[in-house]
Amino acid sequence: MRKKLTILGVIFIIFAILGYAYFDNQKKQQSQSKPTIGILQLMSHPALDSIHKGIIAGLKDEGYTPGKNIKIDFQNAENDQSNLKTMSTKFANENADLTIGIATPAAQALANTMKKSPVILGAITDPKGAGLVKNNQKPGGNITGVSDQAPLKEQLGLIKQFMPKMKTLGIIYTSSDDSAVAQYKKFVVLCKQEHIRLKAYSIANTNDLTQVAEQAAHSVDAIYVPTDNTIAGAMQTLVGAADKAKVPVFPAVDTMVKAGGVATYGINQYELGVATGKMSAQILKGKKKPSTTPVKFFRHGKLIINQKQADKLGIKVPANLLKEAQQKGEIIK
Ligand code: TRP
Repeated sequence: MRKKLTILGVIFIIFAILGYAYFDNQKKQQSQSKPTIGILQLMSHPALDSIHKGIIAGLKDEGYTPGKNIKIDFQNAENDQSNLKTMSTKFANENADLTIGIATPAAQALANTMKKSPVILGAITDPKGAGLVKNNQKPGGNITGVSDQAPLKEQLGLIKQFMPKMKTLGIIYTSSDDSAVAQYKKFVVLCKQEHIRLKAYSIANTNDLTQVAEQAAHSVDAIYVPTDNTIAGAMQTLVGAADKAKVPVFPAVDTMVKAGGVATYGINQYELGVATGKMSAQILKGKKKPSTTPVKFFRHGKLIINQKQADKLGIKVPANLLKEAQQKGEIIK
């Protein structure tokens, strides 16, 4: 009897151990099979932060919940080139299944490191010009994504409506920012076509911004700013200098209007992120391939007006624009 009980006990213990090992192994396998997404963000500024939030929401929309059935490794390079390199290498070492680059330098760092797994562009102005894809319609390689190319013509038209007596328009951009330079070049062509006198001002980094902005504000009637990562992170400096000369700033994106710009037709930054997240999920599921998925562009922006800033500068907002913003855009009061 006692012997029988002992044997039963031993059998029980063996099963218990085997059972534990089995479940433990399954748990491990589950976490191993959880795909890893590496997200590399150039730096923090309100636009890029919104894009990041949108990416997470877009992944969730497609059934990927971070921590549950997907692992997210998020890295912020704080605008430092060597960080971009180290962080991309980290993703390569952990065999990330897919990586997302937010802003051009981040995407370029990933493109240089991740040669096989998909690299998704999170709001890159000019993917072809930045050497990231061969062709925006047929990317060809392991890279595709979403572009935030701003509707420049709509934006210039808007400035003209706000400033009917404008003689000279200024543009400020960072000379090392590919995204800003790409838009600056397009803007020059556009202003020529529209017979607008454009004066260009470039900065090397934020240290130059106050001085260059003051200089610009003294010789132009309004200042345009493209999607420029450095200036997007230092809007208060630019607006502070422009305010002193009572010169309005018209930026390319909604978040920069919120930070003191007067108005724009802007592409919603969060929506750019959502589109990036969704595309990433579809590629991860194997439903789409980067090589044959065209880069997604948003053709039109939504009108956003900073009424508070317009009032401060004594600029009258045209009634038709106010109505449009009330109906299908946004007004900041
Ligand atoms: N398009 C920029 C790039 O390619 C990144 C970016 C997205 C951005 N949204 C922005 C920059 C808003 C300034 C403002 O680098």
